[in-house]
Amino acid sequence: LKLGILASGNGSNFEAVAQAIAAGQLNAQIKVLIYNNPDAKAAVRAANRGVEAVLLNHRDRKNRQKFDGQIVQTLQQYDVDWVILAGWMRLLTPVLIDAFPDRIINIHPSLLPSFKGIHAVEQALAAGVKITGCTVHLVCLEVDSGPIIIQAAVPVLANDTAETLHARIQVEEHRILPQAIALAAHRRSLILNHA
Ligand code: GRF
Repeated sequence: LKLGILASGNGSNFEAVAQAIAAGQLNAQIKVLIYNNPDAKAAVRAANRGVEAVLLNHRDRKNRQKFDGQIVQTLQQYDVDWVILAGWMRLLTPVLIDAFPDRIINIHPSLLPSFKGIHAVEQALAAGVKITGCTVHLVCLEVDSGPIIIQAAVPVLANDTAETLHARIQVEEHRILPQAIALAAHRRSLILNHA
């Protein structure tokens, strides 16, 4: 699998995928990391792992379509076949979605379809749920929707803050994201070979 990873911030999920590859648990290569914030820690992680990183700053682009067009161009340039949104904080347009049909994967810090959108962890705390978690799913145009690949549940503890709860969710994210990538690719190859 030739992966392109899109990240806006910390990049701990990028790290988890790189780690799974290094450990021989995921048969893939990260061809490129695309990041949109100049100070994203994900870029430092990429440099440490010898992964090429490309900064595409959305603030320099006129509109979302043009920005996504640039992303598609970069992904194609690096010969990517699967796109992983690992904390990518931009809405996608059909320009990107249609270029990689059913080959874009997102990770979200809630048990979808609960708590879509930003601040999912805060939303779970505010709702008073006792169990939350994370979801890896295929991306479609509607935000945080699309077929679910794997979910993991996490307990909400009495004294949790958004930070402590998010940290507990991230442990599970790092476990299921590499698994979900392998599973999605495997399923797709089964479907294509059957056709
Ligand atoms: C994760 O919680 C992910 O579910 C959400 O953004 C966060 C990214 O974390 N979409 P990191 O940058 O991978 O550490």
